[in-house]
Amino acid sequence: MVRYDFDQVCDRRNTDSLKWDMLQSIFGREDLIPMWVADMDFPVAQPIVDALKKRAEHPFYGYTKPGPSVTDSVVKRMRRKFKWEIKPEWIVFTPGVVPALHVAVRSLTHPGDEVILQEPAYHPFFPVVTNSGCQIVNNGLKLINGRYEMDYDDLEHKFLPKTRPLHGSGRIKAIIFCNPHNPVGRLWKREEIIRMGEIVINNGAVVISDEIHCEILFKGHQHTPFASISEEFEQNCIVCTSPSKTFNLSGLDVSAIIIPNKKLRDTFISTQSGIVPATNLFGYTALEAAYRFGDEWLEQVLDYLQGNLNFLLEYIAREIPDIKVIKPEGTYLIWMDCRELGMDKIALRNFMQEKAKIGLEDGFIFGEAGSGFVRMNIACPRPILEEALRRIKAAINESPR
Ligand SMILES: Cc1ncc(COP(=O)(O)O)c(C=O)c1O
Repeated sequence: MVRYDFDQVCDRRNTDSLKWDMLQSIFGREDLIPMWVADMDFPVAQPIVDALKKRAEHPFYGYTKPGPSVTDSVVKRMRRKFKWEIKPEWIVFTPGVVPALHVAVRSLTHPGDEVILQEPAYHPFFPVVTNSGCQIVNNGLKLINGRYEMDYDDLEHKFLPKTRPLHGSGRIKAIIFCNPHNPVGRLWKREEIIRMGEIVINNGAVVISDEIHCEILFKGHQHTPFASISEEFEQNCIVCTSPSKTFNLSGLDVSAIIIPNKKLRDTFISTQSGIVPATNLFGYTALEAAYRFGDEWLEQVLDYLQGNLNFLLEYIAREIPDIKVIKPEGTYLIWMDCRELGMDKIALRNFMQEKAKIGLEDGFIFGEAGSGFVRMNIACPRPILEEALRRIKAAINESPR
C-alpha cells in the first residue's frame, strides 16, 4: 500500500499553475496564500503518474479517439460508486465540464429562451446562459439555520409565465443543477432531487446536472446521480461528470458527459461538432488510470480533507466566531458567511487580500446572494490552512471595530 503524505508542502510556483503563478495578474499581488480556484495542492495518485509516463514514452501524440477500455472504466466507475448502470454509448467525452455546459445550453435553447440557475451559483454558469443568448431565471437557494435549501414553491412559480411579466415568455428550457453544490457545499438528498426534478420535467424542461464534485464527499454522505432516479429522469437530463476534481486532473481537460436520451445526445454532439476540440490523449490515459486504480489515493485524500474541515470548523468557532462556516457535505470548497464582520463586499475583498493576505473567491461573484461571503479552497496541506486561518484571525484582531 502506498501511504501519501499530504502534509508535505510542495512548491507549485513556476509550473504554469493558474492558482499559484497568476496571483499578480488576478489579485494584483504575489504574497497571498492562494485558496481560490478549485484544484488541490496535493500530488496526484501514483498510478496516474505511472500511466501518463508510460503513454508519454510512446512518442506518437496524434489524433486520438478513446477506445472501449476508457469508456468501460467510466461505466464500471458509475456502477461501483453509485450503483448507476449506464450504457457506453451514452458517454460523450469533452475537454471539460464548462465547455460541455455551454454546448448543453446551446443544444437545448434558442436565443431569448430562459435557463434556471440556483444562486449563489458557480460563477461560470452565468456566461453559459448569457453567451447562448438566453436569460437567467434565478431560483435562489434559501439559507435556513445555517443550511441551504431549495425553494420549490419559487421554482414552480417560475414556470408560471404570468408571474413574471418582465420575462413572461414561459420559455424556460433547462435548469443548471449543481450536485454537490458549488459554492454552498450541499449534497442534495434523493427526495430533494426528486422534488426539484419533477417540477422541472413536468414543465417540459431539461435538467443539466453538474456532478463534477460527486466523489468529494465528507463522512456519511452518498451521492445520487440525477439520472439514476427513474427512467423519466434519465430521459430528461444531461449529467456532467469528470475525474478532474476528484483526482486533481484539471489541467488535463477531460470529462465524461452522460446523456441517456439519444435525441438529446445527438443534438449535443452536433452542437459541439467542429467547435469543441477533442480531449487530449493524456486526459483519457489519466481518466482511465484514476477510475481503475485511484481509490487508494482517494480514500486517503478524503480522510485528509475531513481532517482539514474538522480543523477549520473548530478553529473558526473558537478563534473567529464572527465568521460562520456553512458546513459542507461535499466539495473541498468552504462557503463562509462573513456578514458579521460588518464590511461591504469590496471592503471584505480588500480585507482578505490586503490585511489577511489570502486569495479567496469573493462571494458576490456567485451572485448577489453571495455578498458578504467568501469561498475558501481547503485542499491544501494542513500547515497552509493553519497559516491562512491564523492570518485571518490576526487581521481581524488588528482591525479597528
Ligand atoms: C461545479 C463546477 N463545474 C465545473 C467546474 C469546472 O469544470 P472543467 O474544469 O471541467 O471545465 C468546476 C470547477 O471548479 C465546478 O466547481
